[in-house]
Amino acid sequence: MGIRPGAVAGVAVSRATLDADFWCARRVMVTGHTGFKGSWLALWLQALGAHVTGFSVGIPTQPSLFELARVGEGMESIVGDVRDYRALADAIAIARPEVVVHMAAQPIVRTSFTEPRATYEVNVMGTVNLLDAVRRDGEVRVLVNVTSDKCYENREWEWAYREHEPMGGHDPYSSSKGCSELVTDAFRRSFFAGDDGTRVASARAGNVIGGGDWACDRLIPDLMRAALEGRAAVVRSPQSIRPWQHVLNPLCGYLTLAQGLWSLAELASAWNFGPADEDARPVGWIVERLQALWPRVRCIEEDPGPERSHVHEARYLKLDSSRARSHLGWRPRWELCRGLDETVAWYRALHAGEDMAAFTAAQIESYAQVGALA
Ligand SMILES: NC(=O)c1ccc[n+]([C@@H]2O[C@H](COP(=O)([O-])OP(=O)(O)OC[C@H]3O[C@@H](n4cnc5c(N)ncnc54)[C@H](O)[C@@H]3O)[C@@H](O)[C@H]2O)c1
Repeated sequence: MGIRPGAVAGVAVSRATLDADFWCARRVMVTGHTGFKGSWLALWLQALGAHVTGFSVGIPTQPSLFELARVGEGMESIVGDVRDYRALADAIAIARPEVVVHMAAQPIVRTSFTEPRATYEVNVMGTVNLLDAVRRDGEVRVLVNVTSDKCYENREWEWAYREHEPMGGHDPYSSSKGCSELVTDAFRRSFFAGDDGTRVASARAGNVIGGGDWACDRLIPDLMRAALEGRAAVVRSPQSIRPWQHVLNPLCGYLTLAQGLWSLAELASAWNFGPADEDARPVGWIVERLQALWPRVRCIEEDPGPERSHVHEARYLKLDSSRARSHLGWRPRWELCRGLDETVAWYRALHAGEDMAAFTAAQIESYAQVGALA
């Protein structure tokens, strides 16, 4: 079950630079704004002058980027569950968003093995509820649903996946993201097909890194948490190769896509935002690089063990981002080494007691400058 990529031949957004005039005073709703990616996105939107409303069930980690960077001070926050249709519809009626970026999810593969039903309820029915609330509201111009590179049926091959390839997923998380894609496509074709309606797109990116991630069972958060606490972290499968990119790379893609969709209905489809091929690196390489950047980073290598052996680890999915490059002018502006430098700098600043709101804002500004100069 693939999703038709949509005809965008000949269409190209002029540059992947973000237009401050477009975003200034724009009403934007971000679901999942208290999470890692949501906090970065909300801060970036605030810096662009948007009126941001967030909708999330709570703050997923302790500590959190949301609290450390005081994200909530520059926006409206609504506490609600995407499984609750009425709460979402009310939030949309209050915020009257022109643009919606959907990131609220149960995002951890391992949790999806222990809580499969909740994972599908949040990731699939949450998407259905949001799309239906947007459909009934009728005023949202652009919606971007953030799924994952894991939405593809992993054929365990070495080629990069393109947007029209079949959805799938071995584990409940990956499958729930594939389902979220299929739901998005069905709503787009059934209810949002006309030029005047909401323009609905989905965005697929993988493994992101950056300051302020405290999720469990992710390599860099585990290492940084341990470094801050002065202990060694457990690292498994150092040979396993994964694609890595700084969180600002895909977020730039989501914003560029939303901005482009505003004027070009042809962009309403699925988009990959993956890192360069050379930024797929073994876990062990990442660990060594982090240790070189911050000697506090220490680790102990461990076998996965029988407890984890049922957790299927697939060959990593490589995304082909040619469409985003040619039609949106998007490319990852910070390659992996720069992304790792900035990530470690963030945790070192926290360790040194710096103001993390100012530090995070400066990283966003520095990232935006690369685009302005390119
Ligand atoms: N971080 C990654 O490497 C990565 C990779 C691929 C895709 N993604 C996707 O990006 C999105 C954001 O991921 P993240 O890493 O920031 O996750 P996160 O756990 O840091 O944040 C998740 C957000 O969703 C909210 N949320 C969870 N359940 C909810 C519910 N029932 N109702 C309302 N809000 C709810 C949380 O409160 C939080 O704001 C997710 O859709 C995730 O699947 C993340």
